Amino acid sequence: MSGPIHGEEYVEWKAEGDAILEPLGGLQGDPVRGKAVVIDRDSGNCLACHLMPIPEQPMHGTVAPPLHGVASRLTESQLRLRVVNEQLINPHTIMPAFYKKPDEYYRPHPAFKSPVLTAQEVEDVVAYLKTLK
Ligand code: HEC
Repeated sequence: MSGPIHGEEYVEWKAEGDAILEPLGGLQGDPVRGKAVVIDRDSGNCLACHLMPIPEQPMHGTVAPPLHGVASRLTESQLRLRVVNEQLINPHTIMPAFYKKPDEYYRPHPAFKSPVLTAQEVEDVVAYLKTLK
């Protein structure tokens, strides 16, 4: 049961260990679009929690690890799983799962039972994170 989200169908993915090896939907990510998603307060909003090398944006959060050099610590596949669902790594994390199955979002109204990001946005964010060496 996966209805249309943001005008697209939910794409299945599979975790292997602490990684998702295949890009969601086989989509190609774009780092420039990914940076915009990361900054967007109504979308990724990663800066609410993470310090990131984006000095032109004010008010970075400090409750999460800084993401400087994250691509030296984690592979693309590991980054993908963390953006899709960090709760599979740490069930107690405060980081939202950005691409769970629509049914796994506990929201009262069916219209809001959908992943936070689209599959394309997930791949864009991963492509941007890959630039943080
Ligand atoms: C509500 C706060 C919050 C938001 C919003 C958030 N994160 Fe996180 N994130 C965390 C915390 C806290 C951790 C540390 C891991 C844990 O809690 O298990 C983390 C961990 C990570 C990691 C793993 C870092 C490492 O060194 O292992 C990545 C990558 C990451 N986040 C990327 C993102 C991206 C990209 C976004 C936006 C799309 C985002 N996060 C949004 C709180 C957040």
